[in-house]
Amino acid sequence: MQWQSSIAQTLQWSGEIVNREAKQQATVAIAGKVSNGDVIGVGSGSTVFLSLQAIARRVQDEDLQITGIPTSYEVALACTALGIPTTSLLEAKPDWAFDGADEVDPNHNLIKGRGGALFKEKILMVSSPKTYIVVDKSKLVHTLGQKFPIPVEVYPLSVHYVESRLIQLGAFEVKLRLAQSKDGPVITEAGNFILDARFANVASDLEGRIKGITGVLESGLFQGYNVEIITT
Ligand code: A5P
Repeated sequence: MQWQSSIAQTLQWSGEIVNREAKQQATVAIAGKVSNGDVIGVGSGSTVFLSLQAIARRVQDEDLQITGIPTSYEVALACTALGIPTTSLLEAKPDWAFDGADEVDPNHNLIKGRGGALFKEKILMVSSPKTYIVVDKSKLVHTLGQKFPIPVEVYPLSVHYVESRLIQLGAFEVKLRLAQSKDGPVITEAGNFILDARFANVASDLEGRIKGITGVLESGLFQGYNVEIITT
């Protein structure tokens, strides 16, 4: 039985989608990757949200059966509204996955996590044999950290300790991410806080060094992952 409520049936995105047209163009290629029977890992963010709509159109036109593994409530709700059944990493391994990014460097290292789903996104990426990163050209940078800070997901009680350790690692600014429609900090998809850390130089071992701090669950720095970039 399915919910007949307006929340279950309405596709909703929180706010305006930046660079909507360019993102929309990049979604065409990802819809073309879908095959009947695929279990697809679904990242988070507005590019993923638009990609899901392109995928849902193909699913409907060609009567395909697919299942999504969502990384956030945002995309889980979108899957429900689009009629795409979902499962989780507990039940299934993805055939492939797709996601967005905030920055992509020439070696395909990434900064992700503007949307607060970075921990689940990283687990999905390492669980999937292949991940496509769908981005518009504004996300391509020469060196990481030019526009976006590196989000660091921390266990809430460790926030002060992790802040001091990030500064020791070379961060020149560390900010607790605050919520827009809630008082206090953003709570991630996994129930933690986010520290947004700015580094003048993102060394090639920085992801591992951040991960080594007690209290850090994950960072939004993705260095050396098996990803294919899809852009317009
Ligand atoms: C979500 O936590 C993020 O990693 C997104 O994938 C990333 O911020 C890209 O978002 P947009 O597609 O909305 O630009």
